[in-house]
Amino acid sequence: MTPGWQPICASEAVSDGASGVRFPARIGGETVSCFVVRFKGEVFAYLNRCSHVAMELDWQPGRFFDADAQFLVCATHGAHFEPDSGRCAGGPCTGRGGLRVLQVVERDGAVYWQPDDYVEILPPVRS
Ligand code: FES
Repeated sequence: MTPGWQPICASEAVSDGASGVRFPARIGGETVSCFVVRFKGEVFAYLNRCSHVAMELDWQPGRFFDADAQFLVCATHGAHFEPDSGRCAGGPCTGRGGLRVLQVVERDGAVYWQPDDYVEILPPVRS
């Protein structure tokens, strides 16, 4: 069974076109990075994995936007992605698809994501 909505951060942690917030998840037993950004007032979340080569996008932790805050950019070879859909907008991602979209919602001053059959939550830490 898929767990319910998982908290990522406070709404105020993601400003329009500014740094995103990274958060961990799991794919097939491997810990991966995901991120949420705000664009034109709405929040969007993606798996932090370029569709060109499976590398994280941010050139510094949380820095995903280009200088004009119009596209998400991969730091490695410069692929551009549409912030509100994850679709490839140019560069080495052309013909290779876009970013893996995560379901995200904002309510009561916080941002939440919905794990799915592919991108799962981390297992609880045992002490
Ligand atoms: S790894 Fe992202 S553009 Fe090449």
